[in-house]
Amino acid sequence: MAVDLEKLLRPVDNPALPFPPKCMTLASGEIMVVRQVGREEIPNILPHIEPLIHVERDYYDIVAARLYAELLGFYRHRVQDEYVLVAQIDGELTAVVNGRRVDSKVGMSYHTLTLRRGLRIGSHAFASKMEYHMEIMKQEAVLVVAESPIGFRRWMIEYELEKRFEVPHELGGVPTYALTQALYQKARGKLIVGRRPVPVKLLAKAEAAILPPSDPPRPPMDMLAATRSMSDPTGSVLISRRADELRAPVPAKKGARHA
Ligand SMILES: CC(C)(COP(=O)(O)OP(=O)(O)OC[C@H]1O[C@@H](n2cnc3c(N)ncnc32)[C@H](O)[C@@H]1OP(=O)(O)O)[C@@H](O)C(=O)NCCC(=O)NCCS
Repeated sequence: MAVDLEKLLRPVDNPALPFPPKCMTLASGEIMVVRQVGREEIPNILPHIEPLIHVERDYYDIVAARLYAELLGFYRHRVQDEYVLVAQIDGELTAVVNGRRVDSKVGMSYHTLTLRRGLRIGSHAFASKMEYHMEIMKQEAVLVVAESPIGFRRWMIEYELEKRFEVPHELGGVPTYALTQALYQKARGKLIVGRRPVPVKLLAKAEAAILPPSDPPRPPMDMLAATRSMSDPTGSVLISRRADELRAPVPAKKGARHA
């Protein structure tokens, strides 16, 4: 008898309330939309996460590698009860956050990644994720870990998260912290921003396409190459100068005897 292995491998998602989209005005004056995406949109996000696997600065590499795997896990039905939220400005992808429901009471925060720096976009995206767990799914606690000092400052310190070091987190051996309903309510007025409903045109623009980030984090430039390229984009001047040096007659050493 043929066995449909895919049926055995694929977890069956439990139904959950969706995250209602919201929007907020950033310090730049731009309006950012935060909305939930389904599996069908994941292939449009992955190409913007993959290049960050090569950015060591601020731990983008490890976070991007893990987030990429989690997005793929969601897309290929290999994670139970995962959700993904994206932040967009005029369609441009500015942040991705994800997590999952462990059960009706406990949430597991996975990752937060900002694609445009300096506007607290990641902070707002993380806040939306906490709002989803606490206010929409009405869970009792969300388990959170930090993989970077900026993350630690943004989550553990700003939300005053509780230590739960005895509880293993799905991201591995890093110490687990928890956001409880009491801590969430304390942080709510300061950290959770946004308004609903999102104006129809704004939401339609966000849903129409996930556009590439305009200024994503990049690996550092090769400064030597940059200096050379100012007057010599191909590096040919440097190469020919080195060749000239090699061809030039070696000056005779002082005191050398001639045959
Ligand atoms: C952690 C993270 C989500 C926070 O996002 P954010 O709230 O939008 O904050 P930013 O990354 O823009 O800024 C963080 C700090 O760097 C500074 N910064 C601003 N622009 C910057 C830039 N172009 N490059 C580097 N740092 C910048 C900010 O001033 C800010 O300082 P502050 O904490 O004193 O306010 C984001 O830094 C990120 O994606 N980091 C890599 C992945 C990661 O660590 N995720 C969290 C895992 S726990």
